Amino acid sequence: MIGNKFALTNMALFRSLLLIILIVAVSSCQTNAQLSPNYYSSTCPQALSIVKAEVASAIKNETRIGASLLRLHFHDCFVNGCDGSVLLDDNSTFIGEKTAVPNNNSARGFNVVDNIKARLEKACPGVVSCADILAIAARDSVVRLGGPSWKVRLGRRDSTSASRSAANASIPPPTSNLSALISSFSAQGLSIKNLVALSGSHTIGLARCTSFRSHIYNDSNIDPSFANSLRRICPRSGNDSVLAPLDRQTPTSFDNLYYKNLLEKKGLLHSDQEIFNGSSLTDGLVKMYAADTSLLFKEFAKSMIKMGNIKPLTGNAGEIRINCRKAN
Ligand code: HEM
Ligand SMILES: *[C@@H]1O[C@H](CO)[C@@H](O)[C@H](O)[C@H]1NC(C)=O
Ligand SMILES: *[C@@H]1O[C@H](CO)[C@@H](O)[C@H](O)[C@H]1NC(C)=O
Ligand SMILES: *[C@@H]1O[C@H](CO)[C@@H](O)[C@H](O)[C@H]1NC(C)=O
Ligand SMILES: *[C@@H]1O[C@H](CO)[C@@H](O)[C@H](O)[C@H]1NC(C)=O
Ligand SMILES: *[C@@H]1O[C@H](CO)[C@@H](O)[C@H](O)[C@H]1NC(C)=O
Ligand SMILES: *[C@@H]1O[C@H](CO)[C@@H](O)[C@H](O)[C@H]1NC(C)=O
Ligand SMILES: *[C@@H]1O[C@H](CO)[C@@H](O)[C@H](O)[C@H]1NC(C)=O
Ligand SMILES: *[C@@H]1O[C@H](CO)[C@@H](O)[C@H](O)[C@H]1NC(C)=O
Repeated sequence: MIGNKFALTNMALFRSLLLIILIVAVSSCQTNAQLSPNYYSSTCPQALSIVKAEVASAIKNETRIGASLLRLHFHDCFVNGCDGSVLLDDNSTFIGEKTAVPNNNSARGFNVVDNIKARLEKACPGVVSCADILAIAARDSVVRLGGPSWKVRLGRRDSTSASRSAANASIPPPTSNLSALISSFSAQGLSIKNLVALSGSHTIGLARCTSFRSHIYNDSNIDPSFANSLRRICPRSGNDSVLAPLDRQTPTSFDNLYYKNLLEKKGLLHSDQEIFNGSSLTDGLVKMYAADTSLLFKEFAKSMIKMGNIKPLTGNAGEIRINCRKAN
């Protein structure tokens, strides 16, 4: 009798302990306690308005730069977390990520980041990180081009190093099939829903012939007249850098036409069309976003926040770079 009661109490205690451990584990996974939307509100109250103004003026000069800035944040976060590593320049003793396969002759927007950083250093020296600049500029670009807004979580610090091999390995290539895309996102803690929503970034911006060549010549899951029109500017060999819009209709508006294109087999990249090619894992999501812009905007904003939470450096880790191109 007594022994039984004792065992029961012990069991209850053990269960509540397990529950507490579970809750702690889940909450530390999903939210990033260290990042906060108000991080700079006392140390640099002008931070958000400075970034917003610089992004607006850069987009006024060249609309595409909004897309380029959004992509930089993605390429930063997928390589050892959102730590500004993508911004470091190569030098005689250092190889960074700028010449990794996904970035070489492709990543752009670095001068805009320099201009933003220069203004921030004048206003509040040594306070705002380059990694946070990328996160804010990505949001401001999306908003400027007609997309959703969200509260950017802040407080990331900058790395003192970078990894070209990690950039080669972690940023998915446009030749990826669906299962490779899913594993690449899953390795970053991102779900299939996040994958499909974030792919909607390809509603803005351009890609080079070299990124879509094999899709327009070799794949069967592409509309023939769409493939033909692209073959006219992107030959089987040569013209590697000729550009085509990722969203063939409105490449400077953040809307849901990217998904409508996929329904018509008019995705530009092999990887784009992979998320609508007969798999029940993703086809339904593509149809939903093609039908409902406000649902897309909600999921996109949530997914951007989640991507922005990937392994930030906080506390005493890393540094606040003075020049985004070089460790202090
Ligand atoms: C799902 C896997 C993805 C693949 C395979 C992929 C691949 C690519 C490729 C190959 C390009 C064209 C690069 C060039 O030819 O120079 C591109 C452009 C772009 N990507 Fe992605 N991407 C993916 C996901 C994302 C995500 C998650 C974002 C943002 C959150 C993003 C944002 C962009 C933007 C905005 C552009 C246009 C950039 C510009 O015009 O400068 N992509 N992507
Ligand atoms: C404006 O955009 C062009 C590319 O279209 C670029 O070469 C130039 O540096 C930009 N100017 C400024 C001030 O950002
Ligand atoms: C990057 O592109 C340049 C110019 O096209 C090329 O010369 C260089 O070999 C490329 N670097 C790498 C690492 O692929
Ligand atoms: C990344 O890929 C490029 C091009 O294939 C290659 O030259 C380079 O050696 C790779 N770098 C690393 C560190 O894996
Ligand atoms: C998808 O791509 C991966 C990596 O390239 C490959 O190993 C795998 O066999 C492919 N899966 C399918 C279903 O084609
Ligand atoms: C098409 O696929 C074949 C066989 O895999 C390959 O040899 C060829 O280079 C590809 N063509 C293009 C334009 O990518
Ligand atoms: C190369 O691109 C240019 C500019 O888009 C285009 O006019 C030309 O026809 C292309 N050349 C070939 C051989 O496809
Ligand atoms: C897309 O699906 C079709 C069959 O529906 C298949 O033949 C094709 O290989 C798939 N395409 C790609 C690029 O995986
Ligand atoms: C090269 O770049 C690295 C990373 O930014 C930096 O730590 C180092 O000081 C730079 N070296 C020179 C000579 O500028």
